[in-house]
Order: sequence, then structure tokens, then C-alpha cells
Amino acid sequence: MELGYCAMFLILLLQISCAASTSVEKKFKECLLTKLEYNSESIEKITFTPSSSLYPQVWNSLAQNPRWVNSSGKPLLILRPFHESEIQAAILCSKEQGLQLRVRSGGHDYEGLSYFSKVPFIMADLINIRSIEISLADETAWVQGGASLGELYYKISKASKVHGFPAGTCPSIGVGGHISGGGQGMMLRKHGLAADHVVDAYLIDGNGKIHDRKSMGEDVFWAIRGGGAASFGVILAWKIRLVKVPPIVTGFNVPRTLEEGATKLIHRWQYIAHELPDDVVIRVIAQNRDVKSKTIRATFNSIFLGGVDRLIPLMNERFPELRLQAKDCTEMSWIQSIMFIAGYRIEDPLELLLNRTTTFKTSFKAKSDFVKEPIPKSGLEGAWKILLGEALTTMIFEPYGGRMNEISESETPFPHRKGNLYNIQYLVNWEDNSNEAAKGHLQWAKMVYKYMTPYVSKSPRAAYFNYKDLDLGKNKHGNTSYSNASVWGKKYFMGNFRRLAQIKTRFDPQNFFRNEQSIPLLNSHHS
Ligand SMILES: Cc1cc2nc3c(=O)[nH]c(=O)nc-3n(C[C@H](O)[C@H](O)[C@H](O)COP(=O)(O)OP(=O)(O)OC[C@H]3O[C@@H](n4cnc5c(N)ncnc54)[C@H](O)[C@@H]3O)c2cc1C
Ligand SMILES: *[C@@H]1O[C@H](CO)[C@@H](O)[C@H](O)[C@H]1NC(C)=O
Ligand SMILES: *[C@@H]1O[C@H](CO)[C@@H](O)[C@H](O)[C@H]1NC(C)=O
Ligand SMILES: *[C@@H]1O[C@H](CO)[C@@H](O)[C@H](O)[C@H]1NC(C)=O
Ligand SMILES: *[C@@H]1O[C@H](CO)[C@@H](O)[C@H](O)[C@H]1NC(C)=O
Repeated sequence: MELGYCAMFLILLLQISCAASTSVEKKFKECLLTKLEYNSESIEKITFTPSSSLYPQVWNSLAQNPRWVNSSGKPLLILRPFHESEIQAAILCSKEQGLQLRVRSGGHDYEGLSYFSKVPFIMADLINIRSIEISLADETAWVQGGASLGELYYKISKASKVHGFPAGTCPSIGVGGHISGGGQGMMLRKHGLAADHVVDAYLIDGNGKIHDRKSMGEDVFWAIRGGGAASFGVILAWKIRLVKVPPIVTGFNVPRTLEEGATKLIHRWQYIAHELPDDVVIRVIAQNRDVKSKTIRATFNSIFLGGVDRLIPLMNERFPELRLQAKDCTEMSWIQSIMFIAGYRIEDPLELLLNRTTTFKTSFKAKSDFVKEPIPKSGLEGAWKILLGEALTTMIFEPYGGRMNEISESETPFPHRKGNLYNIQYLVNWEDNSNEAAKGHLQWAKMVYKYMTPYVSKSPRAAYFNYKDLDLGKNKHGNTSYSNASVWGKKYFMGNFRRLAQIKTRFDPQNFFRNEQSIPLLNSHHS
């Protein structure tokens, strides 16, 4: 089954053209030499500049979304640190030279902010800072900032058959961006977000100082669990609390086309999915898979934390319209359910989870919404028309409820809790990376978003920070004023936005850690 939306598309061959700015990179390396007691040979081993032959290959491997490969905006220098002191030096040198520093964990940022920008920047790729230590004695793990979710899931499964972690569905996602932005997956209704399970962290601040939870303080510790670490520092490692999982879980995929009644079924799903027992997540992936297709295929894609003998009676009682049968279901271990959702076969070797390159390496644009009232059938039908107007379009519906209802809106910066029936994600993928072609696809995303306005959350129309969208608030500068940023800030963080800006102002007063959508300083220009 190639359903996981990370596993559906072709891999493109990328060509990179690089523009170099030799003196800046040279000065940066010289600065590193003065901060670290290294010789230049050791510096060469951890740095890649546009003039080095390895640079195109390295940058190419880092860009998980090839949307920007034809544009200028690549890093002046890529640092691949092995040790925290190298990150500390990079922070100080970037600051001294007025450059931004972008940190990459898994590189799945929807707007490429970890590896692409119009402003001059240094990139720190944490690929060599990714060890994971599981402690079953207290059911926790220390996970370094460059680890991927696949590596984390794999390590947990090697240590225990009855532990897991509630986070996203694509194994190549990094823990640096994902956990600091929330992190939702197939155990969301039982356990909440990945960020809800962080108990400690090591963070490097703008002066190069390393903090743990105690020394960063509860405010900063709050901010990095949903507010995005990129505004506050560099996450060296998270300490997370594992969750118990049953030895057997059940997965199913039930596909329905429009002719087979998909609209009616999704309409019904809206009343049911968020109220089911929290052991079950049934998401819906509605897709137009190619230009010629005249129909949408909606797949009800689910993981139930238990055996099929309990699932069938539950579905018969609560969602009989789905007509789920035992033959649609597969029992598996929790780690196999990760494979299943990622689009692998469950009998495939688990080592596939260790691959850090997305199987979804095609250009895409996404947007998100939250839904508080069921959408009428006519509303859904209008959305299908828009999906059918363009090839490779997808809407993913992810149910909330359960544990999400029990966590208050201000517990973490992620405010989308009780009252949300589900989250929607709109996606468009394309293979022709010419700027002309891209324009049409970006326009499509705006069109579906506009169409959906009456059906989704209002004032603010909320969005999920991990599904980053630079169209929101239209701020394309390397710096942001509080008043401008509050457009997207309130969508992502609602009532928590101001507190994030207060914490930002205190913890990073020089606004060193910034990007196109970082938390602004409170007192910045137009506030
Ligand atoms: C194919 C695909 C599938 C996805 N599936 C899901 C899903 O199931 N559930 C879900 O919730 N989200 C999902 N996402 C969204 C994903 O959670 C976000 O894109 C997330 O921010 C990616 O984190 P990353 O570390 O891989 O990305 P990166 O691009 O490396 O980082 C994202 C942001 O975090 C910053 N950052 C990264 N590491 C650090 C660090 N150590 N310290 C400080 N800042 C850091 C970066 O600078 C950047 O601003 C998916 C994305 C893709 C592309
Ligand atoms: C860059 O753009 C050209 C057309 O302008 C296109 O043919 C090419 O495939 C693009 N390169 C990539 C890697 O997308
Ligand atoms: C990892 O996945 C990518 C994308 O699917 C693939 O091209 C590559 O060969 C895989 N690498 C390994 C080592 O299996
Ligand atoms: C803030 O928003 C205004 C109005 O949309 C815009 O003209 C201005 O350029 C923005 N400023 C910044 C710094 O982005
Ligand atoms: C923000 O960026 C713009 C354009 O680069 C610059 O002119 C302006 O001085 C910056 N403002 C602040 C407060 O840094």
C-alpha cells in the first residue's frame, strides 16, 4: 500500500547551480578556527562551501522539498557538527558576522526554512548529532536534536515491545523541528502530541550557553514545546516520556471513490471520528492522483490500539456505514504499524525506518485548517471539484478529540485542543520545477484555501505551525515586526502568541534566532 503521503511520489534528479560568496565563507571558517582549537584540516571536515565539490550533493540531500532548487537562496556554508562546541562556535561566529544560522534536523520544513532563505545564512545540519538512549527503568529516552522519528521508533522497538512514542507518520521527519512545533500522529487521540511528552531538554542560547530545563526556566521550556525551537535556540537533545502500547494493534485502509459514496461517508465521519474511544484514529486521505482521473479516492486509514476482535464490534456499533470487515484489517506490532502508515509493507525490514531521505521528494505546497463544525455535503462536493481541477492534489483529515480535549489551550504553545473536530491539510505536488509551473500550483493552494473559508475555524482562522505556510501574513523579510507577525502568530498560537513574544524578547533580545516566520520581539518596530 503506498498510502502514507510520504511514500507516494517519484524521486527527482536534481541539478544544483551554486552561487558563491567566497570571502564570507572564508571569514566564517577563520572565525571557527579561533573559537575552536582545531587546525584547518579539521574545519574542512565539518564544513561545506559552494566552492567545494561535495556541496551540491550535500545540499541536494538536505533539501527534502525540491521546490527551491532552481532559485538562489542556498546556505553560504553548511556545517555538519559532531560536537556541541562546534554549534556554539557557529552561533558566535554567525553573530559576529551578521549572518543568520539555520538549523536542520530532518529538513521537512514546509517552506524550506532550515535550508533555504533569501537572506545570507549559515546552515547547521545535525545529521551527526542523533544518538538515542532509551531508559526503560523510568520509561524515558534522551533523543539528540538531529535524530529522525524513524530512528526513534526503531530504537524504542528494539528495547521494548510494549513501548512507543506518539509523533508523526513520516519516518524521515526530524525531532528538532517536529517536536518543537507540536507533532501529531496516529496516537494523537490517546496520548496527545509529541510535545506533550517532553520532560527536559538541552538548548543552546544566542550566547552559546547550554541550558537544561532548570536553567532555561519554565517559560522557555514551555515555549519550545510547540512554539518552534528555531526562535529560541538550538535543541541539542530532548528528554521524552515513552508511552505504553499493546503488543497487538490493528491497521486498516478502506478506500472509497465518489461513485462508491465517499462524500456521504466522510460527511458521517465528521460526527463520529472525534468521539470514538481514544484507542482509535481513523484519518481520511482524499486524493486526486492524476490528471485524467474523474474521481476522488478517499481512503479511511486507521490504527487501533488493540486486536481486530475488539475493533469490528466497535465499528459495527459506532460507524456501521464504513462496513468494516475483518478482511480489511491487519493485526501487527506497534512498530509494524509505523511501517504500515509510512507506506511500507509490514513484513519489510524495520531498518527501512532508518532511511533519512523522504520517499516523498517532490515539490509541494501545503496549507492547513481546523474544523469545529461538520462541513455540509455540498461544501465537500465543492472541494472535490477544486481537487479535480489539478493533478496530484490531496486533502488529509485528521481527527482530534480524546486526550486532545483534556489538555488546556495554554498548557503548551499549541492551542488547538478542545472544540476541534479535526485538522485538514491541503497539499499539491508537482514534478516540473520551473518557476512558471510552480506559480500555477501555488495559486491552486490559495484557491482551495479561499474556497474553504466558510467551513473552517474563524477569528482567527487557525493553522498548524508544523504545516508552515508563508502565505499567512505575507512576511517575506528576514525579520518580522510584532504587528505584522501577529497575523500568522495568532493563527498558529492564538492566545499564546503574546506570551511567546514576551519569552522571546527576554531570552533572545537580539533576535539572533530568526527566520521568515520566527516569533518576533515584542518591542519591534510596528508593535
Ligand atoms: C512528508 C512530510 C510528512 C509530515 N508528516 C507529519 C505528521 O505526520 N505529523 C506532523 O505533526 N507533522 C508532519 N509533518 C510536518 C513536520 O512535523 C514539520 O515540517 C517539522 O517542523 C519538521 O521537522 P524537521 O526537523 O524534519 O524539519 P527541519 O526543516 O529540519 O526543521 C523545521 C524547523 O525547525 C528548526 N529546527 C530543526 N531542528 C532544530 C533544532 N535542533 N533546534 C532548533 N531548531 C530546529 C528548523 O530551523 C526549522 O525552522 C510532515 C512533513 C513532511 C514534509
Ligand atoms: C529548473 O527549471 C527548469 C526549467 O526552467 C527545469 O527544466 C528543471 O527541471 C528545473 N530543475 C529542477 C531540479 O527542478
Ligand atoms: C532511502 O530512500 C530513498 C528514497 O526512497 C532511496 O532513494 C534510497 O535508495 C534509500 N536509501 C537506502 C540506503 O536504502
Ligand atoms: C507589514 O505589513 C504591511 C502591510 O501588509 C507591509 O506593507 C509591510 O511590508 C510589512 N512589513 C514587514 C516588515 O514585513
Ligand atoms: C528588517 O529588514 C529590513 C530589510 O532587510 C531592514 O531594512 C530593516 O532595518 C530591518 N529591521 C530591523 C528592526 O531589523
